[in-house]
Amino acid sequence: MAILVTGGAGFIGSHTCVELLNAGYDIVVADNYYNSNPKSLERVKELTGKDFKAYECDIRDTEGMDKIFKENKIDAVIHFAGLKAVGESCRKPMEYYDNNIGGTIKLCEVMRDNGCKNIVFSSSATVYGMNNVSPLKETMKTGGTTNPYGTTKYMIEIILEDICKADSEWNATLLRYFNPIGAHKSGRIGENPNGIPNNLMPYLTQVAVGKLECLSVFGNDYDTHDGTGVRDYIHVVDLADGHVKAVKNILEGNKGVQIFNLGTGKGYSVLDVINGFEKATGVKINYKIVDRRPGDIATCYSDPSKAKEVLGWEAKRDIEEMCEDSWRWQSQNPNGFED
Ligand code: NAD
Ligand code: UD1
Repeated sequence: MAILVTGGAGFIGSHTCVELLNAGYDIVVADNYYNSNPKSLERVKELTGKDFKAYECDIRDTEGMDKIFKENKIDAVIHFAGLKAVGESCRKPMEYYDNNIGGTIKLCEVMRDNGCKNIVFSSSATVYGMNNVSPLKETMKTGGTTNPYGTTKYMIEIILEDICKADSEWNATLLRYFNPIGAHKSGRIGENPNGIPNNLMPYLTQVAVGKLECLSVFGNDYDTHDGTGVRDYIHVVDLADGHVKAVKNILEGNKGVQIFNLGTGKGYSVLDVINGFEKATGVKINYKIVDRRPGDIATCYSDPSKAKEVLGWEAKRDIEEMCEDSWRWQSQNPNGFED
């Protein structure tokens, strides 16, 4: 019995592999290393003292994926593999639809053909679109996404729901992540974005380490407590633990489609994050206020109560711990896995 982790070498995937192994699950990883480095998996082995098979394989490669299912007894799949850069998705929509949606359909076909019908999918708070008011609940209407990346998540949710409707043996758990940051306590694995980061925390830590000069704060005229954008930042290890609970739930036979927000339920502004980081690390951040970033909303945070009720999961780590751990990873590995 094993869990197949697609995209397991990536940021959230590698942390989830650690928590799955620590919880006693056997795992198998499939990753094409498009946005990751196989060294992250070596570090997962080092951190857990456990071994597992990792296949260099694209989820769209039906033959390669079929071989993984034939060589291992896979009971459930945690499906992280996908492209995730919002800006890039606007420039390369076909690549995003092909990789994320095409890849998920191909993966599900191989799963079905091998009799494995349990999937936990990496969705995103982005499926709530621009018009719902926080705290966001799983029962709210989704859609109205503003970029191809977000639309792939929205469409994959619908595709998985339709697959479950058509065949009652299928079980799909859709996990809607809020803003994952932080890193493993050891400082051995963490987020390793290609090029100049788009997201707040990796940009901030690269300013702190001296790789980038100044953090631009996108707007201070939002209707929030200090005018800067408010988000629900969640420690990646809490998020990883949410996957362990979701897999347990699916393997215990909880049927059909289940949807959970994975967030803390708390909103922090950009300035709160900067202050929290300075307090947690003692490092000063050079920043300036600039215009709003197009497409951003003022406030986005979760109501995470359903995950607590059903999965017994709740986020435990606070913003200072998130900042401290992000910083340990960045300062010990200024060049990511190349160090
Ligand atoms: P990541 O880029 O670090 O990890 C994704 C992994 O998938 C990488 O290792 C990449 O090489 C691999 N991959 C991509 N396409 C593949 C393919 N066709 N076949 C095999 N492997 C492939 O990203 P992450 O931050 O760990 O995100 C994991 C998942 O969670 C993604 O689906 C992402 O969209 C989703 N998500 C991420 C965030 C976030 O803020 N990080 C928020 C919401 C949802
Ligand atoms: C973004 C994506 C979202 C995706 C998520 C993954 C957009 C519009 N949304 O969310 O679809 O699921 O990443 O983590 O891109 N900020 C700055 N300066 C920066 C970077 C960010 O001030 O250099 C601010 C933003 O305006 C926002 C907050 O920091 O208020 C968080 O931004 P970011 O980390 O990019 O995440 P989201 O925009 O919430």
